[in-house]
Amino acid sequence: MNEGLRTASAAALADMATRGTLKAPPTLEAPQGPRSRIGGADVLVACSNDYLGLAADPRVIAATVDGVQRYGAGTASVRFICGTFTPHLELERDVANLVGTEASLTFVSCWDANAAAISTLADENTVVLSDALNHASIIDAVRVSRAGRKVVYPHVDLVALDEALSGLGQWGRRIVVTDGVFSMEGDVAPLPDLVELCRRHDAVLLVDDSHGVGVMGPDGRGTPSDQGVMGEIDVLTGTLGKALGGAAGGYVAAPAAVVELLSQVARPSLFSNALPVPTACGAREAVRILRTEPQRVARLHHLASRLRDGLRAAGLDPLPGATAIVPIIVGDTARAGLLSRKLRDEHGVIVTGFGYPVVPEGTARLRLQANAAMTDDDVTALIDAIVAVAA
Ligand SMILES: Cc1ncc(COP(=O)(O)O)c(C=O)c1O
Repeated sequence: MNEGLRTASAAALADMATRGTLKAPPTLEAPQGPRSRIGGADVLVACSNDYLGLAADPRVIAATVDGVQRYGAGTASVRFICGTFTPHLELERDVANLVGTEASLTFVSCWDANAAAISTLADENTVVLSDALNHASIIDAVRVSRAGRKVVYPHVDLVALDEALSGLGQWGRRIVVTDGVFSMEGDVAPLPDLVELCRRHDAVLLVDDSHGVGVMGPDGRGTPSDQGVMGEIDVLTGTLGKALGGAAGGYVAAPAAVVELLSQVARPSLFSNALPVPTACGAREAVRILRTEPQRVARLHHLASRLRDGLRAAGLDPLPGATAIVPIIVGDTARAGLLSRKLRDEHGVIVTGFGYPVVPEGTARLRLQANAAMTDDDVTALIDAIVAVAA
């Protein structure tokens, strides 16, 4: 045992505890949903990504159970060595139909999907331009890619991006990467402008729509659908671990040739197991429910608007937006942690506080998220609890 490692780790944890930044994830004792159980108490969960309330939907559970009974636990291998189950192919077809691309390929996570897409499409002759507030999975995917140049442009700053693209000179490929919905702000990328900019500069546009799929657009088909540019994004990535069933998994959705190239050469596909087949079955059922019950999306937005309006009426200042993410900036990291603890201990409400380094210093926040399975009374209780602790 390396004692230095143990001592340094303990010291790092003690330092986090002193600064009030130590995280203490709650242990769930009942399925995820707007109502769950933690520490033997019933709680209202207002910070999960279970936007459509499908994580505990009996049909998603039944499809997952049926999947494990029919096919077992998984491929016990990577796909190219030992094969793919039919549900993987069916899910990939359904995801592509949902988001409006020719094809899609699944991975065990969207973290892997971003790594696969960016490192496959970027070589030494590629410039990648990435929004400053992109998700950590994009940041790391760009870092580990072999891209010859890596540019971070200011958040949704189209003028800066235009300038950066104009000044590039001769590069083999330019790739602009952005979240569709930004997870910490709850704002959206201006996709029609980005499409135009990318066309003008012969750049590839890659959009991670993890918080947009199932949420944005009248039928939940994602941020491109919401903004009228469905079918015009070169490469879409997204997760199956939020609105689309909440278990795990990610996808790259793109033209068939791009998807086939990824399945041939992307390292997270070649060297890592397939999405567990029961999870693929559950996610496929979640996509089916979304396609047949678009009223869930309308309900989600109704609740998110009620939440924003109710907080404003009570004198609070949630960030503006039209997504299901409603952040309230509270300042320093320790205060976000304190408010989060008070919400749980005094009101039975689970809302995580996000602080540095997840968000910039001084902009720690409570991130509230609506869930289509919440009742109107849940939203009222949530507003009352936030107002009580913020007073
Ligand atoms: C924008 C974005 N991309 C990717 C991911 C990673 O998704 P997964 O949990 O499927 O790896 C997340 C998850 O938080 C996300 O918010």
